[in-house]
Amino acid sequence: MMKILQYILVLFLVLCSFLNESFAQPPTCAQAGCPTGGVWGEWKTIGSGQCDMECGGCGTLVQTRECISDPTCPCTGSSNRTTGCNFNACKYPTQKVCCNPYVPMVVNKVQICGPIPKTIDSSACCPQSTLYSEWSGYSSNGNGGWVRTRRCLTASIGCPCAAKDITETMDVCPCPAAIGLENSDCEGTSLPGNKGFFRAMAIDNATCTAKVLFYAENQDTTPSFQFCKPMASGYQGAMKFDGAYITVKESVSKQCVAHTVFDCTHGQNPDYGSARQDVTFTCNLQTKKWIMDFTGNDIDSYYQGNWTIN
Ligand SMILES: *[C@@H]1O[C@H](CO)[C@@H](O)[C@H](O)[C@H]1NC(C)=O
Ligand SMILES: *[C@@H]1O[C@H](CO)[C@@H](O)[C@H](O)[C@H]1NC(C)=O
Ligand SMILES: *[C@@H]1O[C@H](CO)[C@@H](O)[C@H](O)[C@H]1NC(C)=O
Repeated sequence: MMKILQYILVLFLVLCSFLNESFAQPPTCAQAGCPTGGVWGEWKTIGSGQCDMECGGCGTLVQTRECISDPTCPCTGSSNRTTGCNFNACKYPTQKVCCNPYVPMVVNKVQICGPIPKTIDSSACCPQSTLYSEWSGYSSNGNGGWVRTRRCLTASIGCPCAAKDITETMDVCPCPAAIGLENSDCEGTSLPGNKGFFRAMAIDNATCTAKVLFYAENQDTTPSFQFCKPMASGYQGAMKFDGAYITVKESVSKQCVAHTVFDCTHGQNPDYGSARQDVTFTCNLQTKKWIMDFTGNDIDSYYQGNWTIN
């Protein structure tokens, strides 16, 4: 019974010394701005976390840590290490009390093998002014608004923060309406049509979606209003249809591309009593650009194509 109590006490004291180490606040950095070497998070054991030896720090665990100040302050050094585990001293009749590189020492009146590796690098320091992460993407605040946050980066290593999180709330969808495309924005690209109509997006601020009404009537007497064009060869007989086109400038590739978004020839749209259709978009809450649902790509600008029909 005594033995068990003693064992529990030892475990408790070792645990306490662990906690003491990991919750001590690092000193304030000597220099302003980015701490030298960046700010690493705590070492965390990967895998099962089971120690394969019972004492002496003889087992090995693989640990990793994350550069929490990246990309604001890039880190130097390794993001992984192997470390010992179970640091209580081995008892007779084992030949060795501690395994390399640990040595017997007394911490809080208990003999252990040490020094126990720290969970926070000993060179870690707290930046003189709080470091914040980049803005997160927006998410719904559940109340019709949209919110994004910046986190204090060093809170997880015990550094004080001027504010733990900075949040910014918008009561309208954070994507500003996409603008009209000009052909001069498409230098070097040969486009299949001319600039036709630009109609502004109708934005639904609660869902962060938008639609643009596209016409599907050719006005044959005025050649400059040809919104629909017979699809090229390949669509014959019953499959023949006229397509309405959108031309967009994509945000990532910076390319202007045209897409047939709907079939003008067939089908009435009950909302409009004609073949008119909405082209739909969804706000990209990370980039604040509109994703054209038809392609899934972010766009900067658009127009409805107006075709010269030969
Ligand atoms: C640890 O990181 C180094 C590079 O820094 C890499 O070469 C090595 O494979 C990594 N080890 C583990 C166990 O992840
Ligand atoms: C369609 O394109 C022609 C150029 O070919 C242009 O003159 C005309 O204004 C355009 N129509 C509309 C509605 O923008
Ligand atoms: C959504 O917000 C934008 C920007 O404030 C505004 O122009 C637009 O009219 C709003 N949409 C609706 C449906 O209220």
